[in-house]
Amino acid sequence: MALDMKIIAIETSCDETGVAVLEISGGFKAPRIKILSNIVASQVKIHAPFGGVVPNLAKREHQKNLPLIFKKALKEARLSLKNPRIDLIAVTSGPGLEPALWVGINFAQELAKKYNKPLLGINHLEGHIFSIFLEKNRKSTKHEARSTKRDFGFRISNFEFPAIALLVSGGHTELVLSKKPLEYKVIGQTLDDAAGEAFDKVARLLGLGYPGGPAIGVMAEKKLKLKHDIKSATAQFISSNDKVKLPRPMINSKDYNFSFSGLKTAVLYKLKELEQKMRTSSHDREYLVSAMVKEFQQAVIDVLISKTMRVAKEYKAKTVILGGGVAANKELRKQLQQKMPFNCDSRYVINLLMPEMEFTGDNAAMIALAAYFRWLKNKKPRRGGALKADGNLKLT
Ligand code: KG4
Ligand code: ZN
Repeated sequence: MALDMKIIAIETSCDETGVAVLEISGGFKAPRIKILSNIVASQVKIHAPFGGVVPNLAKREHQKNLPLIFKKALKEARLSLKNPRIDLIAVTSGPGLEPALWVGINFAQELAKKYNKPLLGINHLEGHIFSIFLEKNRKSTKHEARSTKRDFGFRISNFEFPAIALLVSGGHTELVLSKKPLEYKVIGQTLDDAAGEAFDKVARLLGLGYPGGPAIGVMAEKKLKLKHDIKSATAQFISSNDKVKLPRPMINSKDYNFSFSGLKTAVLYKLKELEQKMRTSSHDREYLVSAMVKEFQQAVIDVLISKTMRVAKEYKAKTVILGGGVAANKELRKQLQQKMPFNCDSRYVINLLMPEMEFTGDNAAMIALAAYFRWLKNKKPRRGGALKADGNLKLT
């Protein structure tokens, strides 16, 4: 089986339409990844007035944009529309919004027929795991073969099994154990809202706009500046009394599950209570909101990091992977980095691998990369007919 492949991938699981063309070689031992094109069209503006993704609107937009983005991606990759000389077509088959997923799947099936190429359905979450290996500003990313005697595993710099992946997006919050390439066991997950969903809901509640993650990230940073500017009674009241303290849901539970839905209610009540108590001016209210937002963000981060570190230690993980849209959160990245045991003298070192900012959100490049390894592992072509959208597809 040839290790050199040109793959075209399609991603339409949520509110980003993505098409990418990747040229990959080297197999598991020393993969060399070349991103020939990676186009993402965001529908954020269309869903913003509704404060969340509307499935049928998402479907309509994907239908409108996908053919255009496909052409653009081929053009950028310098491939002809008539005969693009690709080896494989990959498409996200779940989890996600089924009406949206079907648009990508139907389109990919048409392509498979037209070009007479095999088609592979890919789990979106597996794509997020693989996003850590993508690099934007290099024409080609070569992962050197490691001088290890073991013959099974990705020979990728800094990557070793067992690995724990913390996947945090708008639809998922999962801790996943991987002991071998492409084999996963979900160790913990959210019992209600996903981490990204919590960011989105809190932002909506505070009128900060959609999507909430980036808005809250910016607002949380802003507080530091306000702190020096404002010497109001509100500022002093909050900082001296720790009045904005929120709970850390399930931080001490023995399992590795999460629960974030209570946090938004806690934010709402706390804000109302403080506003009433302090009869805040509009200037002070901004201070109060930014303090709440910062505390909310920290509450989510505390729970995520605490459980990730605990599970990593329990399974003696050598690698921790952060993936999904919430991986764009700067504080989460910084604090996770700080918590990793990394010491030249220490026997226990964990490598933390995080996607570049460009690849934290949904994109098709990560789907193409996952497809490459899936293809090499399974070695069996699957023609288009059998592929179905599965909104609840699990990682296994
Ligand atoms: O992976 P993704 O792009 O789509 C899904 O598969 O759901 O994740 C989107 C989620 C949204 O909930 C968004 O608010 C969140 O990622 N997000 C963030 C940040 N940027 C995006 N959450 C926290 N901080 C951020 N900087
Ligand atoms: Zn995603």
